Amino acid sequence: MKKVFIKTYGCQMNERDSDAVAAMLCDRGYTLATSERDADVILLNTCSVRDLAEQKAIGKMGLLTRMKRRRSDLVLGFMGCMAQRLGPQLLDRLPKVDLVIGTQKLHRIPDHLDRFLNNGHHPISDIAKEAGSQNAICDHAAPAARPTAFVSIMQGCDMQCSFCIVPATRGAERSRSIEDILAEVRALVANGVKEVTLLGQIVTSYGRGLIPISDSNLPFVQLLENVNAVPGLERIRFSSAHPQGFRDDLIRCFGRLERLCEYVHLPVQSGSDRILKAMCRTYSVDTYRRIIEKLRTRVPNIALSTDIIVGFPGETDADFAATVSLCEEMQYDNVFLFKYSNRSGTPAAAMPGQIPQEEVVRRHHHLWKLTETHAARRNAQLVSRVAQVLVEGEPETKKVEGRLFGRTRCNRLVYFPGTGCHRGQLLDVRITRAKSHTLYGEPAVHSPQSTAH
Ligand code: 5AD
Repeated sequence: MKKVFIKTYGCQMNERDSDAVAAMLCDRGYTLATSERDADVILLNTCSVRDLAEQKAIGKMGLLTRMKRRRSDLVLGFMGCMAQRLGPQLLDRLPKVDLVIGTQKLHRIPDHLDRFLNNGHHPISDIAKEAGSQNAICDHAAPAARPTAFVSIMQGCDMQCSFCIVPATRGAERSRSIEDILAEVRALVANGVKEVTLLGQIVTSYGRGLIPISDSNLPFVQLLENVNAVPGLERIRFSSAHPQGFRDDLIRCFGRLERLCEYVHLPVQSGSDRILKAMCRTYSVDTYRRIIEKLRTRVPNIALSTDIIVGFPGETDADFAATVSLCEEMQYDNVFLFKYSNRSGTPAAAMPGQIPQEEVVRRHHHLWKLTETHAARRNAQLVSRVAQVLVEGEPETKKVEGRLFGRTRCNRLVYFPGTGCHRGQLLDVRITRAKSHTLYGEPAVHSPQSTAH
């Protein structure tokens, strides 16, 4: 049977999609290859958020098409966001590519692959919209092997952030029903999953227009309450939220729903109101600040991460200084920092005041250094404390004999000595050493005196 290898670029949703496609292919009788060299079919699951991500996937495919000169039966395909954005253009640009499958057609990949193999190897491009496709991403490859899982709760985004290509690649917002999501979570838990991350491009808009507000709780809060009640589940996370939908009902979930982890990823994008307005982000820095204040009042040790774009068109030194000062004020645990990337077709692409690349690089470096010191400081505070770690297993990279890794409820990565039999367990680990994004520790023998998250 043909062996398939899927290489994934970009976000957690892409990881989730690749996993679901892998599961569907296995159901169809394909097997998964352990490396590209070992594969008969190679699919690149692509990202369009920044130009660099697209260039990486195109460069990679260029190398793979060269491999095809020696192995003419090798099947090559693009799937996901860049496939959606560029469609058949990709077949013109790279004529040795066989499949181009968009974001609403991922569940059709087994059919398309069968058809390609059985009907004379004619290239296939399928980037049409498909009603209900958000319900099709629910298969999991070998869930028992992992104690954590991603669950896709919705697809698409109706916001109009002026820099963002996602509404074009993922389409309009479409939510799954609470019942469907619960069934998936229950099945995962029955297979040994302890932690789920609920995924969507804008989870705070979950269920809008589909599920009515109940007891002044938005649909997303209703979903969280339901997932929190699934027996056997230990931890819930979600990504990504938008400040516009981060209302008091959602803030009140923290500290109230015991399985909801003390960690929030809330993209702010800029610390300047002028830039937020130009980005069409629909909130002010003060609105964002109030959300964080309320969260930190409810849960003082809550971990906080954000996305920031530097070098948005028209960003002055003063705008950038406002972002720097917001970071100083927030002391984030983690900042995902992006250099603005011009995406054609977005409103920002045509805005005046595009910032020269050297200046974008300079601002990026400055803010990166600063936010690294904040992350290091936050992590250093945990040394000698005990944290509850969900053991995920042996690290794939940075492999060391007898070393395991896991995450705390605050999403901090911890390495510690142990054997594979601890996988899936919640273990108390005493932190002995800290780097900006990594903690090291020893399993705690005594009951925790001062706990960390
Ligand atoms: N340029 C740079 N960063 C971007 N992001 C989205 N679009 C762009 C762009 N055009 C970043 C945002 C978003 C994250 C997923 O990617 O910060 O939150």
